[in-house]
Amino acid sequence: MRKHIVAGNWKMNKNFEEADELVSNIMDKLEETDLKDTLLIVCPPFPYLELCTDYSNDSYFMVGAQNVSDKESGAYTGEVSASMLKSIELDYCIVGHSERRAYYGETDALVAAKVNQLLANEIKPIVCCGEVLEEREANKQFDVVKKQITDGLFHLTAEQFSEVVIAYEPVWAIGTGKTATPDQAQEMHAFIRSLIAEKYGKEVAEETSILYGGSCKPGNAKELFANPDVDGGLIGGASLKADDFVAIATSF
Ligand code: 13P
Repeated sequence: MRKHIVAGNWKMNKNFEEADELVSNIMDKLEETDLKDTLLIVCPPFPYLELCTDYSNDSYFMVGAQNVSDKESGAYTGEVSASMLKSIELDYCIVGHSERRAYYGETDALVAAKVNQLLANEIKPIVCCGEVLEEREANKQFDVVKKQITDGLFHLTAEQFSEVVIAYEPVWAIGTGKTATPDQAQEMHAFIRSLIAEKYGKEVAEETSILYGGSCKPGNAKELFANPDVDGGLIGGASLKADDFVAIATSF
């Protein structure tokens, strides 16, 4: 069966000392918590990746980056390549977050190129999709998400696609305190799974973890995760507090 995953996207928060404190608090919390089969992933900013891998040592949680270059290597000042991430033994990387799409002009074509780089380096992409408020109000959310998934991912072979994790993050729910209702989340997740089934077959679709993101908190995670097609969460604000993050991870 597909994995239950709770991933924390720290975004651009914390200095080194604060990052150290957060990850050490997460470790303490995990010592006294039974996560059952839920996979926990921590995605800090680049400078703290190794801090997190050192703490976890692959046993408490996996570590992921928040972004990666679409290029292999060379004169691309400021970029971080997938092979660099591989060389510090990262397992996951977020791609196509709505903040990168909105503020840094990330297109589906760029998402596709980044996914290719990651897969070539055996890193699993966590690919984000989701509509903005006006699109939902115009009832275009399914068209928008279908295009993001099709153009960003459907060039992959079934074997490659089986490494991908999807995160549905309605943009109007991110950082707003306005969560999608469990029904809205389930409806979109089932739709995404049907797209995957159409393209790659039912077996691949059933094995794909589809996470929900957008104001997911300890108080609403249970309701969201109770849906058959919601396989976990991509957590922003609440992942910055060890208690909340670990509480969400035990909400299945
Ligand atoms: P919030 O949980 O802060 O709404 O952020 C969600 C998100 O964007 C995770 O990637």
